[in-house]
Amino acid sequence: MRRMAILTSGGDAPGMNAAVRAATRAALAQGWEVFGVRNGYAGLIADTLMPLTAREVGGIIQQGGTVLGSARSAEFRSEAGRAKALRNLAQHGIDALVVIGGNGSQTGTHALAQMGFPVVGVASTIDNDIVGTDTTIGVDTAVNVTLEAIDRLRTTGSSHQRAFLVETMGRDCGYIALMAGIAGGAEVIAIPEFEVAPHEVAERLQAAYQRGKTHALVVVAEGARHDARAMMRHFEEHRDAIGFELRVTTLGHVVRGGIPTACDRVLATRLGAAAVDHLARGDHGLLVGTRGNGLVATPLADVADKTKPIDLRLLEMARVLAQ
Ligand code: F6P
Repeated sequence: MRRMAILTSGGDAPGMNAAVRAATRAALAQGWEVFGVRNGYAGLIADTLMPLTAREVGGIIQQGGTVLGSARSAEFRSEAGRAKALRNLAQHGIDALVVIGGNGSQTGTHALAQMGFPVVGVASTIDNDIVGTDTTIGVDTAVNVTLEAIDRLRTTGSSHQRAFLVETMGRDCGYIALMAGIAGGAEVIAIPEFEVAPHEVAERLQAAYQRGKTHALVVVAEGARHDARAMMRHFEEHRDAIGFELRVTTLGHVVRGGIPTACDRVLATRLGAAAVDHLARGDHGLLVGTRGNGLVATPLADVADKTKPIDLRLLEMARVLAQ
């Protein structure tokens, strides 16, 4: 009988639990034994495996975060760390691993595959920056949380003739800011992939004020060279005539917390089950993700150490529509 382990790694993402549940139950349906690893790769090295049954993954599909725990492990980046992890897997008779995580985690998955271990990655990060998938588990929730904040800030902004700088997560990727900015009708979207200088933001806000807008929203990705605080500092130092009063809201980890949307639950369920389907067919060393409405698998060698670009035409569209 096959023994499969599952771990969640890197920053948690809403929907990870749905993927754990799906992979566990799909593997049990194959007649395999399933083990959960606590705290990602760090747990693999510390040998924190526990058996998972269908009941143990019950009632978690709607929970945010990850019931398995997650971590970023410096030790796993070393060959010695990875060798220790593989020794622990061998000791438990584990012959396949599913890794639910983001870009850094899938680079680790690739390293294990290169060492000859059967592993399948499941694309999961709020940043949506993984090559080999249109969307990742967690990004829909993160965009919707950011959007809710934008919608709420608009009402108070309107009452006070204020402009808000809203900073959202995404590491070096502007996807969350771009999507939430489009959906929220933001006046300006500032992302790392296409920098907007603070003086240009000031000009656009001033123009919006002069056109008679009662509020304005600037959505800033945390990875932008001028993040929300830097932008605010610039405005204070240069006393740019913006018209609106300005306030800053930094969303931070709020974006990553809370219950997953239906889209994230469905995506996570499909990807978790697909990971097991591939292992059952003897396919491994790949990442499962989506293309259009379908599922695709991409060799980990084509995924590791790469970053998916975003569609900058959407940014230009948003700029034109903000007039
Ligand atoms: O990669 C997911 C993410 O939430 C990024 O958007 C963010 O930059 C980072 O993790 C935050 O990391 P930490 O939780 O370690 O502070």
